[in-house]
Amino acid sequence: MPETATSSSHPRVLSGMRPTGKLHLGNYMGALANWVKLQDTAQYECYFFIADWHALTTDYADPSRLKLNTLDLALDWLAAGLDPGKSTIFIQSHVLQHAELNLLLGMMTPLGWLERVPTYKEQQENLNSKDLTNFGFLGYPVLMASDILLYQTQFVPVGQDQTAHVELTREVARRFNSMYKTSVFPEPEALFTPSPKLPGTDGRKMSKSYGNTIGLTEDPRSVAQKVETMSTSGQRPRHTDSGDPDQCPVGDLHKVFSSADVVAETQAGCRTASIGCKECKALAAKSVSEHVAPIYARRRELEADVDSIWDLLQTESKKAETRAEETMVQVREVLGLSRSLGDVKESFSVQLKSEMAQDIDNDGWLDVRYQTNTLNDSENMRTWEECVPLFRADWLRKMVPREVALKKPKGDFENQERELEEPFITASGKRVLFTVSEHEPQVDVTANGKIEKWFFNIPQRSYEVWKLLLYRGHSLPMRVGFHGDSYITSYVVPQKFFSQEFARAKKSSNKDERIRVEVMKEGGKFSLKIANSNYSDITTLHNYYEPLK
Ligand code: TRP
Ligand code: SF4
Repeated sequence: MPETATSSSHPRVLSGMRPTGKLHLGNYMGALANWVKLQDTAQYECYFFIADWHALTTDYADPSRLKLNTLDLALDWLAAGLDPGKSTIFIQSHVLQHAELNLLLGMMTPLGWLERVPTYKEQQENLNSKDLTNFGFLGYPVLMASDILLYQTQFVPVGQDQTAHVELTREVARRFNSMYKTSVFPEPEALFTPSPKLPGTDGRKMSKSYGNTIGLTEDPRSVAQKVETMSTSGQRPRHTDSGDPDQCPVGDLHKVFSSADVVAETQAGCRTASIGCKECKALAAKSVSEHVAPIYARRRELEADVDSIWDLLQTESKKAETRAEETMVQVREVLGLSRSLGDVKESFSVQLKSEMAQDIDNDGWLDVRYQTNTLNDSENMRTWEECVPLFRADWLRKMVPREVALKKPKGDFENQERELEEPFITASGKRVLFTVSEHEPQVDVTANGKIEKWFFNIPQRSYEVWKLLLYRGHSLPMRVGFHGDSYITSYVVPQKFFSQEFARAKKSSNKDERIRVEVMKEGGKFSLKIANSNYSDITTLHNYYEPLK
């Protein structure tokens, strides 16, 4: 059973963002700033990626800005302090394993789970200018689960809006592990980003759709100007009125960006009307621009060489891919998709043998009545010469275990006999005589029962193994479609059974003469006789294939 891989001792953290244009301060405070903190603790192995495929789930109709947005997001991340030396920063679509896992998890994720994710119905209603009745959009959470599980992630820093997605990821992980009795996927936990209230310029929540955003990498002068003209949500209509800084968006900005001193000073000043709103906003503008100025400057530097940023993303994506592939190897193994044949090979040959058992009778004879085949020649008769190659093919296909790889001798043989003289070669390089008996056994009936004898004419060559194929049945030529009994069986005889007698027979024969070899069956006993030698018992070699391995 594959175990959860841990290539580093630190727990893995992963998060992603869809590339939908430049980040604003809300995105920064709600996610990115927290990622940078997590990264800088050096307590985690961090992965941050640009979810470009996720962007296509809703923006599939217009991909024209997708790559630009991807690069833009990467620049913002790097400008804000994500560091490729500390985190792996990559593009989702450049790591194809995300798509592979998405496909596989899709197999086992119930539709009901997806339809019940609250954002599914909500988004379909809210984004009513887009047709979101698509497979990909319904599958958004499966793709997100794949992103997370692909890195066997422990922690996912996200906003509260992603709760249902992370919960679904946990359920998918649990289902996979229990269904396949494995522990490939740890159940990830959401690390919710503490999200301070961050109002937009009009006092409502900062959001692109309200057009009230302050960009993370906007020119600090434009940032300052936006803050200076921000709404006070009706606080202090006259400058002599006191106000409640907790009800004013400018007060909220101070809490996020200003030093404790400035927060205390402006809070008191607001409540006692001892500070003007203009002055208070100027202080807020200063705090915010001081915060974003270095990010802005860094972004300008990075923009000067986008080629190397893109190269960096490629290298980082390769790194991510290496880690992702580690998981996929385990996943494929569990699902029967691994690339190596593995132990299937064994069960396959066992299975084959049992299937073949139907054709092979109890005594180990293979039925070779070729009744359904038709021959190309018009005679409609099968001669011995035509049958021999069929026997050989059947024997190889049906009787020999799969592990045996017997290579045919090389060359164009104009006749069967020449070919048979050439040894076949086993995987380990042994030379094998592959020969078929003469048509029919000679049958003698004695007082003790029936005696059958098969004869072979063996060329004087050197072999490490003899493979003797015995034919028993109807005499040939045989009519195609004829339902007579025809069977073959075999003896694989290792060298030690024949070497001495074969050498002796060769010595006392002419060079081109063949050596006559006989197999005799007497009851259940088989014996071998080479030329004029005595019979030696080869019963145990019946349908025995070890020497061919
Ligand atoms: N759905 C996330 C969002 O809209 C983006 C995302 C995609 C993600 N895949 C992820 C976040 C994996 C965390 C982990 O913000
Ligand atoms: Fe808002 Fe500052 Fe004016 Fe108070 S003083 S109302 S906090 S802008």
